[in-house]
Amino acid sequence: MSDPDSPASNPLSARPAWEVDFPYDRVEAQHVSRREFAKFLVVVSGGLTAGSGWVAVKDSVLPEAPRVTDVRLCSLSEIPGNGMKAFALPGSGEPAILIRLGDGALRAYEQKCTHLSCAVFYDALSSRIECPCHRGAFDPATGAVLAGPPPRPLRSYPVEVRGDDVWLVADRPEGQKASS
Ligand code: FES
Repeated sequence: MSDPDSPASNPLSARPAWEVDFPYDRVEAQHVSRREFAKFLVVVSGGLTAGSGWVAVKDSVLPEAPRVTDVRLCSLSEIPGNGMKAFALPGSGEPAILIRLGDGALRAYEQKCTHLSCAVFYDALSSRIECPCHRGAFDPATGAVLAGPPPRPLRSYPVEVRGDDVWLVADRPEGQKASS
């Protein structure tokens, strides 16, 4: 059974039957009027204004997110000299590494390579933080790039020794490095 709206069922016209009964100008139908375009602009700019206003109100009225407190990572005996211990950053759960350097100093870094985010590890033999993906290497004392394509140093986190424990210290002013 043929479709009465198809051009094949209407030999007098290449248009469907409904279009013959209700003709319209295709070009006109696709035309966006100035009024419609102006409406679109008003809606988009109104949305942007409302979004910016919400951010401003939220920052000034709503309380800040709770500050992260210091977190005990492990006891000193759990991390060998010239060794590494992996841990998850409190809050975000991002992987990080705690390194005890040969001289006993402690450093903590995000475990994500600054090149393409591969997991880095401390290599006790070379005494470097290595990235296995593209042979990137970092200085374990500073996080600075020593080799390979990483564009930036590793992100570091301040740590402190309190008694026999190693603590990750929150909200320390920038510029202070990890303690030994
Ligand atoms: S991801 Fe680390 S060197 Fe490329």
